[in-house]
This record gives sequence, C-alpha cells and structure tokens, in this order.
Amino acid sequence: MLKRCFGSQSVQSVSGVGRKAFQVTTYARADDLVISRGVNARLFDDVNGKSYIDFTAGIAVTSIGHSNAGVAGVLAEQSQRLLHSSNLYYNEECLGLSQKLVQLTRQFGGQHDASKVFFCNSGTEANEAALKFAKKYGVSQNKNKQGIVAFKNSFHGRTMGALSATYNSKYREPFGDLVPHFRFLDLNAKLTYLQDYIHQNRDSLAGLIVEPIQGEGGIFPVPTETLLGLKKICSASNVVVIYDEIQCGLGRSGKLWAHSYLPKEAHPDMFTVAKALGNGFPIAATVVNEKINNALQVGDHGTTFGGNPLGCAVSNYVLEQIANPQFLENVNKKHGLFIERLSKLKQKYPAQINEIRGKGLMIGVEFNESPAEIVKKCRERGLLVITAGKTTVRFVPALTIEDDVISEGLEIFENSVDEILAKK
Ligand SMILES: Cc1ncc(COP(=O)(O)O)c(C=O)c1O
Repeated sequence: MLKRCFGSQSVQSVSGVGRKAFQVTTYARADDLVISRGVNARLFDDVNGKSYIDFTAGIAVTSIGHSNAGVAGVLAEQSQRLLHSSNLYYNEECLGLSQKLVQLTRQFGGQHDASKVFFCNSGTEANEAALKFAKKYGVSQNKNKQGIVAFKNSFHGRTMGALSATYNSKYREPFGDLVPHFRFLDLNAKLTYLQDYIHQNRDSLAGLIVEPIQGEGGIFPVPTETLLGLKKICSASNVVVIYDEIQCGLGRSGKLWAHSYLPKEAHPDMFTVAKALGNGFPIAATVVNEKINNALQVGDHGTTFGGNPLGCAVSNYVLEQIANPQFLENVNKKHGLFIERLSKLKQKYPAQINEIRGKGLMIGVEFNESPAEIVKKCRERGLLVITAGKTTVRFVPALTIEDDVISEGLEIFENSVDEILAKK
C-alpha cells in the first residue's frame, strides 16, 4: 500500500510529517497523524500504527462512508469508460445527474420549482456561480441592483466572491479589497428589522445568501420563521434567495435538504451543494429555478471540469443512496443516539456546556470556552472531532456510521471531557 502511494521512496524516508516542508502554510494540521485509509467511520494511520473513530467525515464529505464499495465500483467502472469530454458536448452521466437532482429535490420536499443545474468542482465554486447568477439577474433589472446580503457567522468559501460573503474577518481582511456591495446582517436581529432593511434597499440588492444550518460558524439552525420571513420580503423586493446547502445538505440534516423542513413559501431561488455530493470525489452543483435560468445566456459562466462523467457517475450513485426514506430515517435515529448521551453530559456539566444544537448528524456541543484541549484529548484517545465557531465541538460523522461506533466514539468524548474539565 505504502509502496503504491509513495513510489520508489522507502517508507522510512517518507513517513511522519517531515514532508510538510513541501506544503504551503495555509492549514493548521495535526502533527501527530497521517491518514492512510478509511473504512466507513474509521480512519487508519498506518504510518504511526493508530486507528481513529471519525466523527468528521472529512468535514461532512464522506457521508456514505470511507472506501464505500459502491462508490469504488462506480469509479473503477466509469474510469474505464470515460473520464472527461468537456462541456462542448453532453455526456450521459451529467444529463442523468441533472435530471435526478432536480426530480429528487422536488420529490423529497426541497425547492419545489427546482429546474436546472450548473455543475462545478467545489463548494466555493458553487457559491461563486450562485452569486454571479444573482448579480446577472439583478443587473438585468437595473444596473445598481448588485448588492448581496449575507449573515453574521456565515461561511461560504474562500474564492473572492464567496469570501466576500463569509463573515469571519480573519478570512477576509488579509486580502485587501474583495468584491464590493456585500453586507452582513444578523440573523438574531428582529425579523421586521431585516425585512425593512431588504425592502428599503431593494433597488441596490440582487441577492441574499444563507446557510439554513450555519456550519463553520457554530452549528446554528436558522429558525423556520426567519427563513420564511426573509424569503417573503425578498420575493416582494425582487431579491434572489440562495441557500447554501454545502454542509447541511444531502441527508446531513435528516432530510434530503435542510430546506426540506421548510414550507414551500420559504424555498430558495437557488441552492448550492458540494461536499457529500461525490462522497470525497470533487463535484458541486448550483440548482436554480426558471426565473434564474431565464436571466442566463450562453457564455455567462463555465468551468472545464464541471459535470465531468466521472464525478457525475459517482454522484448519481451517492444521490441514489441518500435520497431514500429509510436511509434518512436512520440518520434521524442516529441523531437520537447522539442527543441522548450528549444531553446527559450537559446535565453533568451545566456550567461548562451551554447548549447542544443541530439536526440529523450535524450536531454541535457548545462549551463556555474554547474546546481545543478537548479536541486534542479526543484525538489522543482515538476519536477525531472538529470545532465550529470559537466554542463548539462539531459532530458530522458518516451518515452510515454504525450505532456501536457512535457509542464507542461518544465514550471517548465523554472521558475526554471528564479529564479536561476535571483539571479546571
Ligand atoms: C456552508 C459552506 N459553504 C461553502 C463551503 C466551501 O466549500 P469548499 O471548501 O468545497 O470550497 C463550505 C466548506 O466548508 C461550507 O461549509
């Protein structure tokens, strides 16, 4: 296995993290592990001889598990048929996936007027497309209708447009001027304030972008009445609504889309999807209604790899697995297992644990201070978890995680919390 990965170099010369000298310094990576392989919700570090329960799923990506046999089969089969053929021509897998995404979205309570799909390769690109489409729609009404409303605690990606809609100034400020006309509102503000703002600025606003469950910002499900009120005022003000379902979509919330919980009047004009769409193979999509599609013309947007046969073949398979009532019911049952144990932990530490939040298998445990030490302790004991926002531990495991693995992982979490909090 190692021979295959590292070519002719000896294991000795390539083991450990010595090779990090060859990587740019943009990531804060754990120095004590190197992932070699995975099976469903477990990861193995063959370099250091360790294994981990994975409550991160590659940050909400490998939703049907690491090394999923079905995905591997599709990859092998499609890679021997056709990898890439460009967007100059249709390809069967892309045609099939666009139809499936639209039809299953409607069938599973998502955007009722979903109509067309643009494919690309990552979450930030899917948002970039959505923002361009919103601006195109706005500018075609009035050249000043270009502004975008985003929200406090949002995360939409790292390219210039998506970054302009990302709240955390730490991500934006080092890069000087970004895309103009973006503004941040607070989802906790009075709904009437938000509505007045949008209505009063309607001539200069093209769109609004929001995660129905904010992920990176701290796992905050946005209340139904807020999304409903925002959609109503946006429709009345001719402002396009974009839901970023990149982290919370595709079964993660216990429904196909997080917006599947909403009444149809709160459905977006566009939504974006990435992460789990390829279960680790890079593919993303922007789903739009007719109103948006009508504002677009040939040449308005494009990408070389978008909608390639390999990615689409994988996504066709992934979508079929997740868009299944039984599968989604299981996600909700597993949610119950997490909540039962975590609620007991909160009872044990009422002063240190503020709140347990989330839907499906997108769960946050908010502490009263940074949980960095707890995350580290979990890793030492064989459990991978990540933070969200400054004080929340996030659980986004594979949706296919086995019940006994949940239990084993939660035991490590509880013991780690005990050990760290006992020291305080
Ligand atoms: C809600 C949301 N939007 C956009 C992105 C950006 O996706 P990508 O990292 O694939 O560009 C992320 C990534 O974490 C995300 O969680």
